[in-house]
Order: sequence, then structure tokens, then C-alpha cells
Amino acid sequence: LLETKTPDLAHRNIACRITGVASRRLGWIADPAGVDFARLEPSSQKSVREWLAAAQADVLFEATSLDPHTGQPAIDYLRAALEMGAHAITANKGPVVHAYRELQALAAETGKRFLFESTVMDGVPIFSMFRENLPGLELRGFHGILNSTTNVILGGMEAGLSFEDSLKRAQEFGVAETDASNDIDGWDAAVKVAALVTVLMDSPIPLREIRREGIRALTGDAVRAARLAGKPYKLVCRAQRTASGIKASVAPEQVPLSDPMAWIEGTSSIVYFETDLFPGLALTEVNPGPEATAYGMLADFVRAVTDQKS
Ligand SMILES: NC(=O)c1ccc[n+]([C@@H]2O[C@H](COP(=O)([O-])OP(=O)(O)OC[C@H]3O[C@@H](n4cnc5c(N)ncnc54)[C@H](OP(=O)(O)O)[C@@H]3O)[C@@H](O)[C@H]2O)c1
Repeated sequence: LLETKTPDLAHRNIACRITGVASRRLGWIADPAGVDFARLEPSSQKSVREWLAAAQADVLFEATSLDPHTGQPAIDYLRAALEMGAHAITANKGPVVHAYRELQALAAETGKRFLFESTVMDGVPIFSMFRENLPGLELRGFHGILNSTTNVILGGMEAGLSFEDSLKRAQEFGVAETDASNDIDGWDAAVKVAALVTVLMDSPIPLREIRREGIRALTGDAVRAARLAGKPYKLVCRAQRTASGIKASVAPEQVPLSDPMAWIEGTSSIVYFETDLFPGLALTEVNPGPEATAYGMLADFVRAVTDQKS
């Protein structure tokens, strides 16, 4: 995406060069003159800090796998980037849930940005919409469908498959991971709820305080009967500010067809915000692919390098 959007970036006076790439298998590859992707050579760097220094990085794009319980190693990578004078951009929800305030404070201290637009609903501008376009608005609660794997599995069950066969089909299509338990048991959705509550309701919430129930216990018969009765099952995320604090949950619910959540099919998603001044404000995303996530990171990149103020 950085390559295909080069003309647009140039129009904004942004030039970029990929000077490092790293993963578990690749190790830490750096070349300040620009990485040659046709010939990725093993390098001598042994840690994220050595790698960032060798790459002379101005921006880190962090996209390691989610650890819902600790947010690591992503938190360490993002902390290292900010401490070494680079903007820290992530698609990984873990650091938002487990280290939002720390990383935000570090970014403010170093004059860099910690941005994470791709963490919820891929590249849809949720966090930046509130931060940049809705100043002073109070978010009282939200609900929505934020996990696509479970939505695809429920759709397969409605079409006649068992839970196991529908999961297998979602894995064959590359929608579900080989170990899909983070999705099926509601962890991925709970982490997204925690990220939204932490940032948009300014109230860090531990995962254990989110009531969580996945879709594993639903049978094909129950899912098909619910659809026939006009109240299909959906894995619904909810959060509400109450007098005794924020109540949040992830659980299968039967949603009436009059509710837009019932129309969300496949990998699509929806979030419906309740605010003090807009009683209902919804964002819907239809059938995103991986490029939507990449776009969220690209948009964060443009924000970071064109505006370093907040
Ligand atoms: N896929 C999406 O559409 C989407 C949408 C929104 C957000 N996200 C988030 O974006 C992140 C990446 O998603 P993905 O689907 O690409 O995940 P993935 O398939 O699990 O890939 C993760 C990548 O991170 C690398 N990695 C994992 N642990 C590492 C470690 N300890 N040190 C260095 N590298 C490590 C892996 O390297 P190796 O390949 O070398 O093992 C792999 O390249 C996740 O946090 C996910 O929740 C994804």
C-alpha cells in the first residue's frame, strides 16, 4: 500500500523508504538505504532497539499477533520505538488495552505519536473520528458486531452447516485462524470492547470485567431456528456508562430484523455509538479485506508525519 499510494503521499510532500523489516522467522533486517525485498539477507541485529537504530527509523508499523492477556511483545516494541524517537503505529489491540496510558504519555513526552486506528474495524476511522472531529462529545455507550470470524461461522450455520463444518470452511477461506479460539470464545471481541472503552470512554477496563460468552455452545439447529423466527443470532458487543461504572459484555444475542445489526453478513461489521448530543451514530464496514487494515495504518502514518501536535 505504501508503494501504490506513493503518488498521493508525494502530493502531500511525504516521501518514505522501508529501511527495516522484522518477524519471528526473518529476524531483524535493516538497511538505511532501503531494504531489497528480492534479497532479504539475515542481519546481525539481535533486538528491537538494535534494529530500530540500524534502520534509522522515523516510524514503526507494528503488526505482530495479538496476545489478548498481556499485549506483548508489541508493547515492548512500541515503547522502544517511541523512546528512540520514532512514531509508533500499531494494528494490534493488545497494547491499547494493556498500555494505552503509558504509551500515550511516552508519545507526548517524546513529541511523537502513538496511533492505532486499525485495531478496531480495520481501517475505519473510529478513534480519529472522535479525536479529531467530535471534540467534547461524551460517549455514553455503544453496541455492535466487531468480530468477523464468528459472524462468518454463524452465517455458515444458518446455511445448514454444523458449528465444526462452518469453522472448517471459514479456516479454508482464510477468515478464521488455525487456532480460532480467540474469536470463537469472544476474546478478540472483548479486547476490541476494552480498547473502545479505554480510549473513547477514558476508562481503562480489565478484560476480566467484561462479561464474555462465545458462540461455541450454539447448535446449528438453534441458529437456523433463530433465523427462521426473524431473530438471528449475532455475537454482540456492548458497553454502557452507568452510575456504578462501565458495564461491558460480549455474548450471542438474538437480534430482531429491525435492528441494523441483523443485516451484518460475512466479514462486515457495525458499531453504534450513543453520545450526549447524537443519540445514535453508526459506522458500518462491508466486506473488508486485509488492505483495509493496511489503509488504517497508512492513514495513521499520514496523520503522524503531517501533524505532530497531539
Ligand atoms: N488480519 C486482519 O485483517 C487484521 C485486522 C485488524 C487488526 N489486525 C491485527 O494485526 C495484527 C497482525 O494480524 P495478522 O492477521 O497479520 O497476524 P498473524 O498472521 O498472526 O501475523 C503476525 C506477524 O507477526 C509476526 N510475529 C508474531 N510474533 C512475533 C514476535 N514475537 N516478534 C516478531 N514478530 C512476530 C509473525 O512473524 P512470523 O510470520 O515470522 O512468525 C507474523 O509476520 C494482529 O495483532 C491482529 O489482531 C489484523
